[in-house]
Amino acid sequence: MSDPRKLYIKTYGCQMNVYDSERMTEAMTGAGYVGTDSAGDADLILLNTCHIREKAAEKVYSELGRFRALKDANPDLRIGVAGCVAQAEGEEIMRRQPLVDLVVGPQSYHRLPEMEARARAGEKALDTDFPEEDKFDALKRRPRAKRGPTAFLTVQEGCDKFCAFCVVPYTRGAEASRPATRVLEEARDLVERGVREITLLGQNVNAYHGAGEGGDWSLARLIRALAEIDGLERIRFTTSHPNDMSDDLIEAHGTCAKLMPYLHLPVQSGSDRILKRMNRKHTAEGYVRLIERIRAARPDILISGDFIVGFPEETEADFQDTLNLVEEVGYGTAYSFKYSTRPGTPAAERAQVDAAEADARLQRLQALLTRQQRAVQESMVGREVGVLFEKPGRLPGQMVGKSDYLHAVHVAGSGIAPGDIRRVRITESGPNSLAGVAL
Ligand code: SAH
Ligand code: SF4
Ligand code: F3S
Repeated sequence: MSDPRKLYIKTYGCQMNVYDSERMTEAMTGAGYVGTDSAGDADLILLNTCHIREKAAEKVYSELGRFRALKDANPDLRIGVAGCVAQAEGEEIMRRQPLVDLVVGPQSYHRLPEMEARARAGEKALDTDFPEEDKFDALKRRPRAKRGPTAFLTVQEGCDKFCAFCVVPYTRGAEASRPATRVLEEARDLVERGVREITLLGQNVNAYHGAGEGGDWSLARLIRALAEIDGLERIRFTTSHPNDMSDDLIEAHGTCAKLMPYLHLPVQSGSDRILKRMNRKHTAEGYVRLIERIRAARPDILISGDFIVGFPEETEADFQDTLNLVEEVGYGTAYSFKYSTRPGTPAAERAQVDAAEADARLQRLQALLTRQQRAVQESMVGREVGVLFEKPGRLPGQMVGKSDYLHAVHVAGSGIAPGDIRRVRITESGPNSLAGVAL
C-alpha cells in the first residue's frame, strides 16, 4: 500500500460536477489522499457521473468494466460512483457491477471520507440521501492551496422546475441556495489563492436567493457584493432559466463592469406548443423579448443557449419554429441535443419522434448554429477585447486565455503570465479559437 493514498476522479457532465470533484478532492486530501491523473496509480477511483442523457449514463458501466484489471492487480483499490447516475441508479450499480465499493449521491459528499473508511474495511457503502445539512458547509477545504486564475463556485443547487424531459430535479433534489455570507467568504479565499475570475454555478443559478445581510439576496445583489472584492476581476454565472431573469439581474449586465458580457440562457425549443409540452412556462415570443431587454442593457452581450430536437410530438412545423427563433436571436454559441428518453420523466411516456428524423433535424439545427457561431467569431476580428490568460498554448511562446465573450484566444506571449488580463486586438478567427496580438 502506498502512503499517502492516491485518488483519481473522472468527471462527466456539467460544471457543477467539476466543482464537486474539486471539493471532493480537497476533502479526501484531509483524509490522507493526494490526487493523481492516472487511474493506474490510484487507491481510490471515483467516477463523478452525469444522468442527463442515456449515453452519458451508459458510459459509467463501460468505464467501470475497464477497472477490473486494475482491481485484480491491486486488491486495495476501492472504486466509487458519485454524481447523478449514483443518485438515480445507485442500488442498480451495486447490483450490476460488483467492482463498485461505494456509491455516493450529489448531496452526501461530505460523508465521503467516512464512507471511504467503511469501503476500505470491506463494506459496501451507499448513500443517496438528501440530508438536511449543507454538504458544502461540512466538506473540508484546503484554504491556502494555490489555484489557477479561474474558478467555479456553486451557489445554488437543485431544481423545482420539472421540465418534462429532465432528470435534474430528481438527481439533485429541490432548489436550494447557499448563504451569501458563505459564498463571499469562499470567493475571498479563492482570490487570495490566485483566482481572478469566478463563475457562479447553479442548475438554476438565477433563481438564487441565499441568506445575506438584511434578508435573502438575489443573484444580482450577490454579484454586486462580489464585485467589491479587490483582485476579483471577472464574474460569470451559469445556467439561467428565462423565467428567473429578474430586472435587477438584467440591470447588473448594464452596470456591473466585472460581470462579463456573456449569458447562457437555454430556451430548448422555438415552438410554443412544444414549450408547453416541455413544461417550460414561457413562450418563444417571451424569450425573444427578454433577450431584447438584456441586449438593451448590454448591447454587446453574447447569447448562448441549449436546444432539444425531436422532443416527443415535435413536428416539422415545430422544428421550423426553432430554426426561426435561432435566426431571430442570433447566438454566439449554442448546444443542441437530440431528445433522450429518461426513465421516470413525464415525456418518456409520450409518442417518440422517429430517430432518423430527429437526427436529420439535429444536423440542420447544428449547421445553422455553427454558421452563427462562425459569424460572431469573425465579427471579433479587428476588435479589441479583454483576455484573461490561463496557460501556455500548444505552440512555443504562445499563451491562451478567454476573452470577455468567452472565446478562446491565443497570442504570441512574450511577457504574459497566467492570470494576466490584457487588451488584445483580434487578428484571426479559426474554427474553435481566435488569434490576436496583446496591446
Ligand atoms: N438547468 C439548465 C440545464 C440543465 S441540463 C436549464 O434549465 O437550462 C443541460 C441541457 O441538457 C438542457 O438545457 C437541455 O438542453 C439538455 N437536456 C436535458 N435533458 C435532456 C434530455 N432528456 N434529452 C436531451 N437533452 C436534454
Ligand atoms: Fe432541468 Fe428544466 Fe430544471 Fe433546467 S430548469 S434543470 S432543464 S428541469
Ligand atoms: Fe448531468 Fe447531473 Fe449535471 S445529470 S448535467 S451532472 S446536474
